[in-house]
Amino acid sequence: MKSSIFITRKLPDEIVKSLEQHFDIKMWEEEDTPVPRSVLLRETKDVEGIYCLLTDTIDEEVIEGAPHLKVISNMAVGFNNIDIGAAEQRGIVVTNTPGVLTETTADLTFTLLMSTARRIVEASDFLRNGNWDTWSPMLLTGQEIHGSTLGIIGLGRIGEAVARRARGFGMDLLYYNRSRKTEKEEELGIQYRELHELLKESDFVCVMIPYSPHVHHFIGKDELALMNKEAILINTSRGGIVDEEALYEALVNKQIWGAGLDVFEEEPVSADHPLLSLPNVVTLPHIGSASVKTRLQMAQLAADNIIHVLNDKSPLTPVNS
Ligand code: GLV
Repeated sequence: MKSSIFITRKLPDEIVKSLEQHFDIKMWEEEDTPVPRSVLLRETKDVEGIYCLLTDTIDEEVIEGAPHLKVISNMAVGFNNIDIGAAEQRGIVVTNTPGVLTETTADLTFTLLMSTARRIVEASDFLRNGNWDTWSPMLLTGQEIHGSTLGIIGLGRIGEAVARRARGFGMDLLYYNRSRKTEKEEELGIQYRELHELLKESDFVCVMIPYSPHVHHFIGKDELALMNKEAILINTSRGGIVDEEALYEALVNKQIWGAGLDVFEEEPVSADHPLLSLPNVVTLPHIGSASVKTRLQMAQLAADNIIHVLNDKSPLTPVNS
């Protein structure tokens, strides 16, 4: 008999087909609406596998309600939506999709950095709104990118990929990481700094750490106060790492110059979110890994992880042992 799995969102046909060869599938058929909690709880009761997205909270209630569950496969590199402890207690394998999205997410991070520094969205709106009367010396002037200092908080895979891009732009590189990575320092031409030093010295501060409750509001009022007035904060990791209220205050009070945000504390954000009202903030709807190729690779890797585990093979990219 085939194992059964629940997929929490409509996936591209080719991915569904690859799963159908192995499993009895139930899938939440909507592309743009997350599965309601009651449906998630009902549909996962008898399954061996859950294929989920970062929008699904897979907590103790879901895990305890699914006695046959063997694998939870997240189509994301971040997995803070899953209660890893509860899964581990039950011997359930949890997998994510690292690697395939590294370069794409670094591209987006650098895009956001450049767009914020050079006021790209504001400039485009300015033109579209019919405000362009003449070229003028200081019109829409931004911050220098080449020759400036980039401070990367969290030198993981994506942090490193951002560092490589920044080198190409002639930036000076600093990083802060829980553990120092001396072997990377020469390879990437990057220097270690304690967090407070990095915040003081950087023109761009790029937040690249995974979210856990330990790093909730890791960048708050005190950290923002250390940054310089021309500095820009970029966050493409998880919203909860930055205290949004403190960031809003720092931006309004011109304590820092700007921010580029792909992620928010509560997603999705509505159009009346205070940070969206500020011209010196570039905001995106969590699209770090959103190229066609990468999203398909992530979807396939998440599928392959379930296929492996439910066929008694080792998972390709487990997050727990
Ligand atoms: C996206 O944010 C991911 O974690 O893959």
